[in-house]
Amino acid sequence: MSIKTYTLNGVATIEIARPEKKNALTQAMYKAMAEALAAAGADAAVRSVLITGQPGVFTSGNDLEDFLQRPPQGNDSPVFRFMQALLDCEKPVVAAVTGAAVGIGTTLLLHCDLVYVGDEARLAMPFVSLGLVPEYASSLIVPALIGHVKAAEKLMLGEPFTGQDAVDCGIANAVLPATEVLNHARRMAERFNALPPAAVRETKRLMRAPLKAQVQSVMASEGALFSQRLTSPEAKEAFQAFFQKRKPDFSQFG
Ligand code: COA
Repeated sequence: MSIKTYTLNGVATIEIARPEKKNALTQAMYKAMAEALAAAGADAAVRSVLITGQPGVFTSGNDLEDFLQRPPQGNDSPVFRFMQALLDCEKPVVAAVTGAAVGIGTTLLLHCDLVYVGDEARLAMPFVSLGLVPEYASSLIVPALIGHVKAAEKLMLGEPFTGQDAVDCGIANAVLPATEVLNHARRMAERFNALPPAAVRETKRLMRAPLKAQVQSVMASEGALFSQRLTSPEAKEAFQAFFQKRKPDFSQFG
């Protein structure tokens, strides 16, 4: 199994562990993560959730091969269930970004409560380069955080950015040496053990409530377009180019 889960000292850890594929996420992995989030929510001994990856890689995002073979179909798809489970998680979620965070590897951070990034991490939302559109309400939240033109560099050009950029954007709390990021994130997660859990939950709910309906509505619009675009000739060319380890050629598209 390429998702490891364990609870230690009040912290339910979800560790993405598929280093040979740069922690690319398959449907089975999304399902496991959704289940782990639900289990953490239901376990009174859990005070917080920690999501992490492997040294050098947080996650390279959706597994592109899995995506092509089993394109997500609507709200019942494992990827959507994972996204919803993270949105529905009432307990604080802390992310330790241990390296590259691509696609949903970056957009999921928008729905965590505390985010710590290793100094070697590179984040990117290259949906357009893949012939796709943004997901996980990133087309709403990123422009809201940094304004349209800076968001356009990240979402329209798909420019990668550093951990320090993520801090400057308000996507992450702090950059730490790569060897310390996980321990630091765990220590921060453990701080919730000493706090009153209901007050923490209510505070998270209050902080998320104003945007909740909008996030859901934008996710639905993005999701419909994303599914359409997955079968587009542009996406086909982009995906083929990735697996053939060449640059995509979009010159024939109008
Ligand atoms: N889906 C499927 N396989 C992936 C993958 C993904 N998202 N990301 C990496 N892999 C695979 C590669 O195909 C390669 O497999 P191989 O060894 O069988 O050839 C292996 O993981 C190692 O990846 P590689 O690209 O050689 O590693 P790298 O260190 O040079 O680069 C990344 C790391 C993350 C920058 C690069 O793999 C990448 O850009 N991945 C795609 C990211 C992406 O577009 N995600 C989808 C966003 S919606």
